[in-house]
Amino acid sequence: MTQEATLKKAADILRNTRHAVALTGAGVSVASGIPAFRGSQGLWEKWDPRIFEISFFRQDPVQGWTLLLELDKLMMAARPNEGHNALAELERMGIVTAVITQNIDGLHQEAGSRDVVEFHGSSRRMRCMQCGRTWAREEISLDSLPPRCGCSGLIKPDVVFFGEAIPEQAGISAYGACNACEVMLVVGTSAVVAPASHLPVIAKQAGAKIIEINMEPSALGSLSDFVILGEASAILPQLVEAVKKPA
Ligand code: APR
Repeated sequence: MTQEATLKKAADILRNTRHAVALTGAGVSVASGIPAFRGSQGLWEKWDPRIFEISFFRQDPVQGWTLLLELDKLMMAARPNEGHNALAELERMGIVTAVITQNIDGLHQEAGSRDVVEFHGSSRRMRCMQCGRTWAREEISLDSLPPRCGCSGLIKPDVVFFGEAIPEQAGISAYGACNACEVMLVVGTSAVVAPASHLPVIAKQAGAKIIEINMEPSALGSLSDFVILGEASAILPQLVEAVKKPA
């Protein structure tokens, strides 16, 4: 099937559902200036992967925060792109009921998506590792590292580090959405990091059609019923237009 035919088929399926769920990864934010983690230009090619290891952060919070500062600047400077806007439009059209994102940049909410499950937390929030108190990112100064809570606990970004559990409510919401959806739009994820990578499998087992948008085939392989190759910031708006204009 040609790319055009695949996009049209995917649009026909989306037009006829009221229960689509999007699962997004770093690829959806690349057009907003936040590099993906894997692949030739990936963050893991130039950054120390310990940046998101909780054991490393506990052992050396100053070094941990020093590594995080560059990512913090990227996240604070990023704005939603046409891919985020298109997913928010599909929610307004009553087609997408939830966006489950692995991203920590908060861009889906900024683009107007209202039901967003932050599967890996958010860099726009900070959390005390001792008492659990949270703050908005802007409320915490990073002039002296590491930032500490009044209870003397270490403050870290409210994101899921390797070695930490998925937030309970995020897990419940995500698994519920996957079990109830008719269509899952999987956008910009290599689908290699569990447990997020299990979500499309759960949706498929629940009978959903899987429509994947990526620059290249992901680890989902043949689980995807439709694969549309291209930049999410270009493909998603094209998909919305195709949904709006049944040929
Ligand atoms: N449009 C669509 N897809 C893209 C684009 C783009 N412009 N650019 C890159 N991609 C695709 C890549 O081909 C790749 O399949 O996005 C995917 C990004 O994969 P990863 O970098 O592995 O990001 P992700 O899948 O979100 O990683 C999952 O791993 O490091 C952890 O916690 C981190 O949440 C992250 C998790």
